[in-house]
Amino acid sequence: MITNTELQQKGNQFPNKVVDFKKDADILYFTTENEVILQLTVLRDSVIRFRFGTGGVFEPDFSYAIDEDGIRGYNHLELEEDDAYYFVHTAKLKIRIEKNSLQTSIFDIEGNLINEDELGFHFEESFEYGGNIVKMSKKAQHAESYYGLGDKPMHSNLRGKRVHNWATDQYAFGKDQDPIYKSVPFYIGLTQKRAYGIFFDNTFKTFFDFCQERMGVTSFWAQGGEMNYYFIYGPEMADVVGSYTNLTGVPELPPLWALGYHQCKWSYFPESNVKEVANKFRELKIPCDGIYLDIDYMDGWRCFTWNKDYFPDPKRMVKELADDGFKTVVIIDPGIKIDKDYWVYQEGIENDYFCKRADGPYMKGKVWPGECNFPDYTNPEVRDWWAGLFKELIQEVGVKGVWNDMNEPAVMEVPGKTFPADVRHNYDGHPCSHNKAHNIYGTQMARATYEGVKKFAYPKRPFVITRSAYSGAQRYTSSWTGDNIASWEHLWVANIQVQRMCISGMSFTGTDIGGFAEQPTGELYARWIQLGVFHPFCRTHSSGHHGDQEPWTFDEGVTDIARKFISLRYRLLPYLYTMFYEYIKKGTPLLKPLVYFDQEDAQTHYRTDEFIFGHHILVCPILEPNAKGRRMYVPRGEWYNYWTKTPVKGGKEQWVDADIDEIPMFVKEGTILPKYPIQQYVGELEIEQVELEVYYGLGKNASKLYEDAQDGYDYKKDRYSYRTFKMVGREKDWIIQQHKRGDFITTYDTFRIHLIGLPFEITTIELDNEVISMEDVQFDPKACALIIKKDFTELHLSGI
Ligand code: GLC
Repeated sequence: MITNTELQQKGNQFPNKVVDFKKDADILYFTTENEVILQLTVLRDSVIRFRFGTGGVFEPDFSYAIDEDGIRGYNHLELEEDDAYYFVHTAKLKIRIEKNSLQTSIFDIEGNLINEDELGFHFEESFEYGGNIVKMSKKAQHAESYYGLGDKPMHSNLRGKRVHNWATDQYAFGKDQDPIYKSVPFYIGLTQKRAYGIFFDNTFKTFFDFCQERMGVTSFWAQGGEMNYYFIYGPEMADVVGSYTNLTGVPELPPLWALGYHQCKWSYFPESNVKEVANKFRELKIPCDGIYLDIDYMDGWRCFTWNKDYFPDPKRMVKELADDGFKTVVIIDPGIKIDKDYWVYQEGIENDYFCKRADGPYMKGKVWPGECNFPDYTNPEVRDWWAGLFKELIQEVGVKGVWNDMNEPAVMEVPGKTFPADVRHNYDGHPCSHNKAHNIYGTQMARATYEGVKKFAYPKRPFVITRSAYSGAQRYTSSWTGDNIASWEHLWVANIQVQRMCISGMSFTGTDIGGFAEQPTGELYARWIQLGVFHPFCRTHSSGHHGDQEPWTFDEGVTDIARKFISLRYRLLPYLYTMFYEYIKKGTPLLKPLVYFDQEDAQTHYRTDEFIFGHHILVCPILEPNAKGRRMYVPRGEWYNYWTKTPVKGGKEQWVDADIDEIPMFVKEGTILPKYPIQQYVGELEIEQVELEVYYGLGKNASKLYEDAQDGYDYKKDRYSYRTFKMVGREKDWIIQQHKRGDFITTYDTFRIHLIGLPFEITTIELDNEVISMEDVQFDPKACALIIKKDFTELHLSGI
């Protein structure tokens, strides 16, 4: 094991004294006598890039992760120096660099120490890997906690753990197993109530040690490439995650149907089986939008072909499914079967698009179709070709989404389960070995797929899902957490993984509901679907080897629970869509772990189970059998139990009832929760009225509602409707003000406002400054509901 903190280990080299300093606008260069160069770039007042070159040189500056369209710009940049240090000041940070060692300390402008090098940058020349093993060690601050890093299936607080990033096909992975499918070298540190982030943008195998090797030290290192990291200051975790997401990019809005429910299995075939499943959803009135075809739809697992025995007329089938509201999603893997009579293989060979070994032969490996070659998606020309392959599937056949799997890349029956290190990649004009390209391979595949689906789905929006991903993949694709297991432990893992992905910039993620491997009991499935409907991506999937896993395959009770919760998701679609809009605009994660929600409350720092869905809903899954409820921490503030509508005071652990058909769920006071009627699929109904569940709260509060055409790109031309509701609650009156932005005209005319927790009896209703009668708003005292026109400006309720 390579460690970066053992000083005894020979070969660690350290920067020594600075002999040259240069400033080029917002880039500063510090060069040491032994030819280490620190390049420090001020991207924003709170985002600083640190990059170290050795031997007096840098590699070409290229990153797959950084979104060039991300926001740049700072307000202040000032330099100072004394005998021992350089000081860089921005409007938010003071950075102190030691002249003798390049060791760095970062303070906020009040002078609080946020992050401090221990040994700082050091490196070891590696004969085995070539280039350097680049290392960074930092002092852990008092009571510091660590979060993030993508899909790690372990406790949300990473303190005391060492993890590494090397995308791996890990069938039936276990709790704490590391690494698995994704590589997201980004973490958040939280110390003294202040949060910062570090994004180590290096695609080689990277390691992170959070006080595991040494109690007071946190370190990260890579087996190649450069020490190239971004320091992102908060102080709020929301600022850190927002800036990181801005740096690595946000997706476009998905079509609204993609936020509906998806049903998958390995595999639904033949056509009659697909139809049977689809029909059953409609018959049982369980809403569903996505239906998936796994590898058996293909002819001998050859991508972009159909097994005509199972699917004699795919276009007709896809259309018939679409007529009933189902969107067909198909799997496409990277392994291209070696078969001289297969057109995709022929084109790959003719154009030299497949990855090659160092000495010339094509990279050959076994996957589902048998021996395969693999496109080099790091070559832009190959990505273009790949994108073009989707023409028939999307434009002709009418498939609506593509599922990319096995793209770690996975190879069967070989040591390491992937390509050997010597495989060559183009890396967008920076030729390299697989050591460097491995972690990015899956993302580049998903990117090429996205380009193709987007092109041929136009004017509709694309939908892509991937298993492997590196930072920045969120720009192109959603993801799922891979081959989990139908166990209670895995339900715990699923809950943590999706929260972790959300604060790692990749919100559009879900798990295989019910578990992929093995067979869930009805109770486990029920508890999983109750959680799954709160995950940004919501799909049941299973290997199919252990029995069926459609919502009706357990018993009627479970079917009813699945219907109830999937229907709830459809009712909450406008809320979920609004969350997504805020994600694409501000990088706001769709789910927020409790520590993100209230980092000042130390009670939240080691919480794993409770999370906030959007801004206003607190959810906590039941994670064990035979439960009638559970103890959970309700964070500080005033809440309402969603089911009983009773007010609940937060800031303490408490028992919450939740029989098998409920999940602990609370709504924050002062929330306006928009709801659509239940639809069996997105677009089934023209929305005629939107319900606003309004939860009374003292003081000022705000909620939002985003809507558009639910697909297409008109929203980019201002054709959206973005409502902000501001509320002021006092003892005897309640004011709701509305402000709307955007040109989109929604189909409905009225809101049904359902008042919850009203502490007074209404005597007067004023609408846009005019007193109106109870009849005018069809006030229903029993339901405490009224109906008003959608474009009201101010509703004022007062009473005694
Ligand atoms: C992999 C995927 C799984 C899929 C299977 C067959 O195991 O993770 O989701 O069903 O391959 O394609």
